[in-house]
Amino acid sequence: MLTKVYGSAVFGVEATTIIVEVNIDKGIGYHLVGLPDNAIKESNYRIAAALQNNGYKIPGKKITINMAPADLRKEGSAYDLTLALGILAASDQIRSEEIEKYIIMGELSLDGSLQPIKGALPIAIKAREEGFKGFILPSENAKEAAIVDNLKVYGVDTIKQVIEFFDQGTPLEQTFIDTRAEFYKDLDFPEFDFADVKGQESIKRCMEIAAAGGHNIILIGPPGAGKTMLAKRLPSILPPMTLHEALETTKIHSVVGKIKNMGLMGQRPFRSPHHTISSAALVGGGSYPQPGEISLSHNGVLFLDELPEFERRVLEVMRQPMEDREVTIARARFAVTYPSSFMLVASMNPSPGGYFNDPDAPVTSSPAEMQRYLSKISGPLLDRIDIHIEVTPVPFEKLSEDRKGESSVDIRKRVTAAREIQTKRFEALENVHYNAQMNTKQIREYCILDDKSKTLLKTAMERLNLSARAYDRILKVARTISDLDGCEQLNGNHISEAIQYRSLDREGWLG
Ligand SMILES: Nc1ncnc2c1ncn2[C@@H]1O[C@H](COP(=O)(O)OP(=O)(O)OP(=O)(O)O)[C@@H](O)[C@H]1O
Ligand SMILES: [Mg+2]
Repeated sequence: MLTKVYGSAVFGVEATTIIVEVNIDKGIGYHLVGLPDNAIKESNYRIAAALQNNGYKIPGKKITINMAPADLRKEGSAYDLTLALGILAASDQIRSEEIEKYIIMGELSLDGSLQPIKGALPIAIKAREEGFKGFILPSENAKEAAIVDNLKVYGVDTIKQVIEFFDQGTPLEQTFIDTRAEFYKDLDFPEFDFADVKGQESIKRCMEIAAAGGHNIILIGPPGAGKTMLAKRLPSILPPMTLHEALETTKIHSVVGKIKNMGLMGQRPFRSPHHTISSAALVGGGSYPQPGEISLSHNGVLFLDELPEFERRVLEVMRQPMEDREVTIARARFAVTYPSSFMLVASMNPSPGGYFNDPDAPVTSSPAEMQRYLSKISGPLLDRIDIHIEVTPVPFEKLSEDRKGESSVDIRKRVTAAREIQTKRFEALENVHYNAQMNTKQIREYCILDDKSKTLLKTAMERLNLSARAYDRILKVARTISDLDGCEQLNGNHISEAIQYRSLDREGWLG
């Protein structure tokens, strides 16, 4: 007897339906064809045990299973449940007309309980598109699949529930989530709030500017100054994600199986990989390319703590994706593309010893050590960072004060207003949405200086010995400051504030 059941394979952030045909005939043997990988080939051991422990069995006949389309490689253990149901149906151990109307996926444990899968959201989107009635999957993944409407989503814990659903019509509990309610609930109560940061008013101002213009930023300060604490709070002042952005971001996290018992992600992601990270883990890779940290921070913040500690080679591979806002990983037979539009926040100590070069510091560094340390980050990556700011620790009296700082929600209102001005400004441009994305031509068009500001900038550049590359960055940041001000025209105040945010360009930092 021949039966068809349906699973799904995920490539990039898209799914493809996989038809699993099971044929049972006289004879003996177990043949699995259609480019399955080793994990799928091993599935028969798990399936045999799971069925036996629940009172069913793999029949001692000739079983042929074909996974189509045959030219597409299938991987992983998530087809266990699909195959098991196919075998049961083909051997008449369950009788159901309904089984072909569902996508069924899950990894089996030997006792028949189910383990979570990767990519539940893209699979659900595809299932709805192709008119499937429902999607049966491990309960841990049910919420992320339930974001998709017009598709019945059933989260299950054991194979037994699925068998009884099809064979005896025992109902399964459908998973519902109120996507909008879930989406908005976290927004007003960010997990990390700027209200917790005591003092540091000028740094907070600087992060507000970075958020408003989408500028990459580097924080320079000694250990314990609060760099990590500040960086973690940046997502909370970025404008709320649109539903579309939330869906894009959730899809990527779904593909790596990182969404546990959650629906749509309402908060922008914050990722802070350790400096020993490999380039594959940073930009994505593997024989079945998985998204890397730059894609997991899509629409959010990528924090590279202790930037000079990262291997230069690893940082180099990040440059192109930063520019393109997506990364394509090519393999011999296929290529996948993951989006990677993120804000970069980096941190570093002012010297290899950790402290600003002041004679009272606990550790001091020689000029040669300084040079070696700083040269690790010079060049192209630094070129993409508009704002440099020095962070000094707040004094103890300030730390022990009870007064709360301004909340992230209040700061976010100003950021959002400034972003709206930018959205309007760049309406006609396809690839530019905020000030940080302007190219030289657009800077000339949108950052026009009056004579007084021009002179001011010229004098400052000479006196502070700022490099030429600082020039355009200062203009971009000044544009954002002026947008926060609600001013059409850049003025001297905007310029002089922007000049302060170029610490690393000054003489004595980078040679
Ligand atoms: N302005 C502040 N307000 C409240 N707490 C602060 C502030 N600055 C520092 N702290 C406290 O000090 C701790 C250390 O800060 P954090 O880890 O952010 O420093 P850091 O600059 O990242 O240091 P390191 O270089 O060691 O990584 C924080 O967890 C926080 O409790
Ligand atoms: Mg830190």
